Amino acid sequence: MEPTSKLVELREIRKAFGGVVAVDNVSLNLHPGEVVALLGHNGAGKSTLMKMLAGAYPIDSGETLIAGQKVEIRTPAEAQAQGIETIYQTLALADNLDSVANLFLGREKLTPWRTLDDHYMEVEARKVFKRLNKNFTNIRTPVRRLSGGQRQVVAISRALYFNARILIMDEPCAALGPEETAMVGRLVKQLKDDGVGIFLITHDMPDVFGLSDRLAVMKNGRLVGTYRTGDVTEDEVLGMIIAGKQPAGKEQCVR
Ligand SMILES: Nc1ncnc2c1ncn2[C@@H]1O[C@H](COP(=O)(O)OP(=O)(O)O)[C@@H](O)[C@H]1O
Ligand SMILES: [Mg+2]
Repeated sequence: MEPTSKLVELREIRKAFGGVVAVDNVSLNLHPGEVVALLGHNGAGKSTLMKMLAGAYPIDSGETLIAGQKVEIRTPAEAQAQGIETIYQTLALADNLDSVANLFLGREKLTPWRTLDDHYMEVEARKVFKRLNKNFTNIRTPVRRLSGGQRQVVAISRALYFNARILIMDEPCAALGPEETAMVGRLVKQLKDDGVGIFLITHDMPDVFGLSDRLAVMKNGRLVGTYRTGDVTEDEVLGMIIAGKQPAGKEQCVR
């Protein structure tokens, strides 16, 4: 087999829900240290495509390769074993638990006596939260009482702490204020420098142009096109999203 620099290769992925084809033969790649923005109207199929990579839904047909190896990702645990972490717009956290418990949710550290190693988890949690936000100290408060930005720190910490090499961010700033959005932007850059590959679903054009290396537009389950972000204008991107029209005279970038 030839060596590949591709971290993720999605080949001809298809998914239908009853009569609705949510994802229609979509192929898309991701490289280490690359941010690929995934764009399209509501219902375009972005989340469904990413949920298949994250193990939330099985694919109907197509292939997934991780670092050149064909894999079958049937559950979120199998995705995590491949280094795939997801941050959803809904900030899916266990509201009644504190930040430490949420960081380790489903992957709790045990003592040799098979009890929860609370001390270890708290020390580790403090370190990783601090990296993201120095002012975040109320880590024993139930997360339902935290701000949107603090909740996002907890969600992102799960990806950082467990050494994600592939990160899926599904509208990570949808519930955040401007300062918190800027924090997420800085974090994306930091992870990128660490070689993490990121699929970023967003509707925010400044984020697309400020953070992504390439962009892929979907409409009605189909891929309209994949371009280097610097090669297209905002108007051309909007044209792809709204009309499903490829910009004239622009070369696609399917690496
Ligand atoms: N669990 C589901 N059951 C049935 N239909 C779904 C489900 N999830 C998504 N869909 C449908 O699949 C299509 C794509 O949805 P989605 O992937 O959420 O789009 P996007 O994230 O781009 O807004 C839509 O028509 C949506 O109604
Ligand atoms: Mg969505």
